Amino acid sequence: MLTPMTRYLRHGGRRTLSRLICFPIALYCLIRLLLFFSFRSSSPATALSLFSFASSRCDGRYVFMHDLPPRFNADLLRDNCALSPWVGDACHFADNGGFGTDLGDGWYVTSQFALEFIFHDRMRRYECLTGDPARAAAFFVPFYAGVEILPHLWGTNTTVRDAVALDLVRWLRARPEWAAMGGRDHFMVAGRITCDFRRQSEEDGDWGSKLFWLPELQNMTTLLIESSPWQENDVAIPYPTYFHPSTAGELAAWQNRVRHQKRPWLFSFAGAPRPNNTDIARDVIIEQCRASPLCKLLDCAGDNAHECFSPRRITELFSSSVFCLQPLGDSYTRRSAFDAMVGGCIPVFFHPGSAYVQYVWHLPRDFRNYSVFIPMEELKPGNGAIERALSRISPEQASAMREAVVGMMPSLVYGNKRTTGEEGEFKDAFDLAVEKVIERVEKRKRDTKQGIEQDASDESYNWKKALLNGGVGWEHYFNQK
Ligand SMILES: *[C@@H]1O[C@H](CO)[C@@H](O)[C@H](O)[C@H]1NC(C)=O
Ligand SMILES: *[C@@H]1O[C@H](CO)[C@@H](O)[C@H](O)[C@H]1NC(C)=O
Ligand SMILES: *[C@@H]1O[C@H](CO)[C@@H](O)[C@H](O)[C@H]1NC(C)=O
Ligand SMILES: *[C@@H]1O[C@H](CO)[C@@H](O)[C@H](O)[C@H]1NC(C)=O
Repeated sequence: MLTPMTRYLRHGGRRTLSRLICFPIALYCLIRLLLFFSFRSSSPATALSLFSFASSRCDGRYVFMHDLPPRFNADLLRDNCALSPWVGDACHFADNGGFGTDLGDGWYVTSQFALEFIFHDRMRRYECLTGDPARAAAFFVPFYAGVEILPHLWGTNTTVRDAVALDLVRWLRARPEWAAMGGRDHFMVAGRITCDFRRQSEEDGDWGSKLFWLPELQNMTTLLIESSPWQENDVAIPYPTYFHPSTAGELAAWQNRVRHQKRPWLFSFAGAPRPNNTDIARDVIIEQCRASPLCKLLDCAGDNAHECFSPRRITELFSSSVFCLQPLGDSYTRRSAFDAMVGGCIPVFFHPGSAYVQYVWHLPRDFRNYSVFIPMEELKPGNGAIERALSRISPEQASAMREAVVGMMPSLVYGNKRTTGEEGEFKDAFDLAVEKVIERVEKRKRDTKQGIEQDASDESYNWKKALLNGGVGWEHYFNQK
């Protein structure tokens, strides 16, 4: 009962990826956007402030942020929200530093596509910004790649889809800062998934732009919510969740709360079936959840869809379940995995591409410590495999795993750090991502000095490769032949 989707995911083929994964995404994203934009945002982002620090604190951490012409960010946000009829109030997309509507106590109605705004806003307030390229450890390019491509994803030709990408790299290449390392010390952020920027051919019918294939982007590092398992120039970092604590105290209070939360459900699932993209385990998962008295299903199809966009409903569900099922979504990854972990729920993955080979900077290498892996091949309609597998895990084991998840929380959230260097600071997903980008650039500099031609990858990429190449018997999931 293999569908083309299953065959793709098991036996690979990047070309098929764009056809089989990206098209359903198109429709789904449209629906999500419609829902998302029915929320209105409140106050505008606060003005940026600058801080000066003793040089020791910033040594080796300076970032140079390119002053991009507004056609690469602010104008795109303004024009594309007005031009895209379905996005209505999209012009409030990036309010509150990209967090969206403020619900109080560190919670917001945050879009899963908001990463590029969140990152840009945090970078403006980064404590070690520099205007001196000679001092910079890395160069940030605040391009809104996701906003740019969004209105062009449907019904345009490749010329239209690639125009701004080509404009951007022309602009970058002309900058003096580019020359030093051919852009290998540059990075940017895209709030969408990799296949939106990895069109497989020059045919209009193929999905996405060719941004990430451009030679300039091959040299840069791009951070995004889902990376290509096979490429090295994009790196996945956590999806934004609804929780953006301001201080370590606020974070710790939430961690304590989820630690002691009563969890009446052994497992739960929030999601909708995918009508024309069936049996990628999702329908079986919904069926097994419905059939089990230990499972709570939040059905996101039809009339109930709005519940799935309620931060409160989602968080209530995940913080009342021990395990949260995270099958493939429309692509490998789902935002829901991060919402679950923020709820102190142990994620259950069915494909290693859903997290383990993605978030190598933010998730621990020992995936069994914080998650459960049930190979999707083991799921058959009516076989109850999920309940059986999860019931075998003792409460003590589950408790240790939950403690691991709770402990990971600081590096999974994007904090609301309006100021830096104050009491109660914690290292969040942003801080960790910037640190890792800088390490990567440093490594490249060292390699260049020592005359090492090829990018000998950073350590975490090596373990991603080890996972891909079957260190644990997973090669069939990523086989491209
Ligand atoms: C692509 O679409 C644009 C806008 O519709 C049009 O002006 C242009 O001629 C098209 N280019 C090609 C090569 O078809
Ligand atoms: C990419 O980096 C290499 C090595 O520094 C350099 O030779 C090449 O020109 C760069 N490519 C671009 C498009 O700048
Ligand atoms: C699914 O496919 C059927 C038949 O091809 C089509 O009529 C229907 O509109 C599709 N549904 C979705 C949600 O794409
Ligand atoms: C995490 O996993 C490693 C290796 O699988 C194991 O040695 C270690 O004890 C685990 N840590 C915890 C806290 O369970």
